[in-house]
Amino acid sequence: MNTISLAGSERVPAIARRCLQLALVYLIVGIAIGIGMGATQDFTLRPVHAHINLLGWTTLALAGLTYGVFPALAASRLAAVQFWLHNLSLPVMMGSLAMLLLGKPQVAPALVASEFGMAGAIVALTVNAFINLRGPRAPAAA
Ligand code: HEM
Ligand code: HEM
Repeated sequence: MNTISLAGSERVPAIARRCLQLALVYLIVGIAIGIGMGATQDFTLRPVHAHINLLGWTTLALAGLTYGVFPALAASRLAAVQFWLHNLSLPVMMGSLAMLLLGKPQVAPALVASEFGMAGAIVALTVNAFINLRGPRAPAAA
C-alpha cells in the first residue's frame, strides 16, 4: 500500500488520506444542500442531505481515521474494496435518491443496487476489522 511521508510525522497510508479528503468533499456537498434547504424552506432533499453527511462525511472519515490508526487494516485488500464500493455506490445512491424524491420513481432499481453496494462497503470494513485489527499487547499486570 502506498504511503505519504509527512515531515516529523508518522507515515500516513494513502487510503487513509484519500478517505479523509473525499469525506471532506462529501461534507461540502452535504452542507451546500443543507444551506439550500434552509434558504428555500424546501426540505424534500433532507434524506439526501442527511446521508451525504452521515455516510459520506462521518462514516468515510471514520474509515479513514481507522486506516490511519491501524495500518494493518489499510494494507488489506479489503480496504480498497471498501473504498471503491463506498465511493462508487454513494454518489449513485444519493443521485438516485434525489431523483426519486423529486418524482422519478423509475430510478428505484439504481437506488436499491447502490444501497447494496454501500452496505457491501461497510461489510468489507467490518470483515477487515475482525481479521486485521490488532494493537500492541497490553503490558502484563504487575
Ligand atoms: C452548515 C451545515 C448544515 C446545514 C445548514 C444543515 C441544514 C439542515 C436542514 C435545513 C435540515 C432539515 C431540517 C428539517 O427538516 O426541519 C437538516 C437536517 C439534517 N441534517 Fe443538516 N445541516 C448541516 C450540517 C449537517 C451535518 C454536518 C450533518 C451530519 C454529520 C447533518 C445531519 C443532518 C440530519 C441527520 C438531518 C435530518 C434530521 C432529522 O431527521 O430530523 N447536517 N440539516
Ligand atoms: C446503506 C446505508 C443506509 C441506508 C440504505 C439507509 C436508509 C435509510 C432510510 C430508507 C431512511 C428513511 C428516510 C426517510 O424516509 O426519511 C433513513 C433515515 C435516516 N438514516 Fe439512514 N441509511 C443508511 C445509513 C445510515 C447511516 C450510516 C446513518 C448514520 C451514521 C444513518 C442515519 C439516518 C438518519 C439520521 C435518518 C433520518 C434522516 C431524515 O430524517 O431524513 N443512515 N435511512
